[in-house]
Amino acid sequence: MKINIKENNKNVSEFNLLYDLVGWKAYDERISKIALDHTFYSVSVYDEDKIIGYGRLIGDTICFIYIQDVMVRPEYQSQKIGTLIMNTLLAKIKVLKKDNPSLRVYLGASKGKEKFYEKFGFIRRIDANLGYGMILY
Ligand SMILES: CC(C)(COP(=O)(O)OP(=O)(O)OC[C@H]1O[C@@H](n2cnc3c(N)ncnc32)[C@H](O)[C@@H]1OP(=O)(O)O)[C@@H](O)C(=O)NCCC(=O)NCCS
Repeated sequence: MKINIKENNKNVSEFNLLYDLVGWKAYDERISKIALDHTFYSVSVYDEDKIIGYGRLIGDTICFIYIQDVMVRPEYQSQKIGTLIMNTLLAKIKVLKKDNPSLRVYLGASKGKEKFYEKFGFIRRIDANLGYGMILY
């Protein structure tokens, strides 16, 4: 494996490919393009030139940030690629926090993936007496 990382690559077909491979069913290209255009930071991971992982940050960059779309190509899972993606996103967040130490970072874990995020210090909101995160379907 020859891993390399690109920041802020807005390649719609790679993004959609990973979406399909992890079983999320990709958006139309038009929609993915708008989503990536409005993403302020992303990390794409490659084995040679094959896309194998991705994660992105959305939000206002100073008060509220969301980690979204952390995805690892199935045959590359459990080999710390997800960890590499999270550590890269968290390194970026650390820099942003210098500007505003009380910046808040959110994510919505897929069911069953909570333990992965707990490894990076994320907690289930209810455990901190914060009330549930809520969502409009
Ligand atoms: C979740 C995902 C990003 C993890 O990436 P990965 O490269 O397989 O994870 P890593 O190899 O870096 O694992 C890091 C640690 O998290 C743990 N972990 C990974 N996935 C886990 C899961 N589903 N449940 C519990 N623990 C998990 C690993 O056991 C490992 O623990 P260790 O450090 O004690 O060995 C990846 O499996 C994936 O893309 N899944 C499909 C898409 C998805 O559901 N993304 C999350 C959206 S919220």
